[in-house]
Amino acid sequence: MDVFVIEGGRRLAGRLRVNGSKNAALPLMAAALMSDQPVVLRDVPDLADIRNMLRLLAELGCHKTNEGGARDVMCLHATERSNSHARYDIVRTMRAGICVLGPLLARRGYCRVSMPGGCAIGDRPIDLHLRGMRALGAEVSMESGDIIVKAPPGGLKGATIFLGGTFGSTVLGTANVMCAAAVAQGKTIIESAACEPEVTDLASLLTKMGAKISGAGSPRIIVEGVAQLGGADHTVIPDRIEAGTFMMAAGITNGDLILENCPTDALLSTIDRLNAVGVEIEPIEILRPAGFTADPLRQVVRVTCGRVIKPVEVTTQPHPGFPTDLQAQLMALLTLADGNSVITERIFPERFLHVAELLRMGAKIFRQGPTVIVSGVRQLTGAPVMASDLRASACLVLAGLAAEGTTLVNRVYHLDRGYERMEHRLADVGARITRISEKDAGVAEASG
Ligand code: UD1
Repeated sequence: MDVFVIEGGRRLAGRLRVNGSKNAALPLMAAALMSDQPVVLRDVPDLADIRNMLRLLAELGCHKTNEGGARDVMCLHATERSNSHARYDIVRTMRAGICVLGPLLARRGYCRVSMPGGCAIGDRPIDLHLRGMRALGAEVSMESGDIIVKAPPGGLKGATIFLGGTFGSTVLGTANVMCAAAVAQGKTIIESAACEPEVTDLASLLTKMGAKISGAGSPRIIVEGVAQLGGADHTVIPDRIEAGTFMMAAGITNGDLILENCPTDALLSTIDRLNAVGVEIEPIEILRPAGFTADPLRQVVRVTCGRVIKPVEVTTQPHPGFPTDLQAQLMALLTLADGNSVITERIFPERFLHVAELLRMGAKIFRQGPTVIVSGVRQLTGAPVMASDLRASACLVLAGLAAEGTTLVNRVYHLDRGYERMEHRLADVGARITRISEKDAGVAEASG
């Protein structure tokens, strides 16, 4: 297991490109199961979760066929249909394995998917996914920890489905129901659908494949079922969580970063909170050929931050509210604010494993249930810390960039699930960060 060694206190300055979105790419890849024609995806990040999804798709008869092509382009072709079992061994490494459920049911009328189980950020049930499948007429049963879903003899039938739960809607549940409804007979209305940009991106791929979908990005999605889907060529949207993480990295190091391929339009609540903190995000005008329309999901922005970080209140919410996937990173920034901030987590109320690690670095944080008060301190101090989930790892890296002295972030395999070559990209803009093995880290700590 690898460890990041970070010498803190260096101001970040320079240019970074935001990669294609992991959370958009995973359901897009699964959608390739729905056609016997190739689906080409562009700007796919090279991440552990993506490689695990490729492994899962290959087991299900959908292979990546463009060996030797551009690194970030993926051509997926579902050529066999004999295996429709997403096994525990793979699904447990990547909870997003659940997003093969809708596509498999749509194309094959049957699927068996290992029940994903909980993870570091909470229970993560899938009752809403299954409610959607049942509403389309599917029969759902459980066997040996697997969920078995079968379409009725005449095929799936469109229906009106309410997908809201205690914590709002469900992103991957909406993706699954939208996929299944795309080839169901008749019209489906998904009410209380997730509005996340990743759902909109999936709807645009499915539309290119021949589906008839309207309203994606709003809480009511309407799908008119079609008989079958074809191939498509699609570029994944940029990763709003990676962009937000880099914005906060600029903020916590008092830096000056230019972000290319920045999905500003998908980050309005984040930008609102960062502006309140004192982080400025300005679009940079670039010369464009006549007739070229600027894409609000692919902007160039400059991110700067003054010396004083102001305290804020923030509550995580479904999109377009502040994303739970940036809560931990914002907390790192607010540990250095000039006053008390309040963070309330409304999506995953237990998602606070980073709190104890930030305390080890000198932060002052008080938690009560889903609410945390962050009392700003003048300085964090470097320490060995343990990453426990993907975004918590990013939070600890940010804290390490600002801390005095050396921070060792253990178990960076969590971070590798969602950020490609993070240490190289941060080093390119001035961070002092290296990756070493756990064995070497033990030596570094003992002699440090
Ligand atoms: C996706 C993202 C994840 C993000 C989350 C919320 C991917 C691969 N992952 O996860 O990074 O943190 O959205 O923005 O895209 N819930 C139920 N029943 C269900 C499903 C969900 O009660 O059937 C609850 C969850 O416990 C949670 C809330 O609904 O409290 C939102 O979860 P959901 O949107 O489903 O998260 P994912 O789609 O799994």
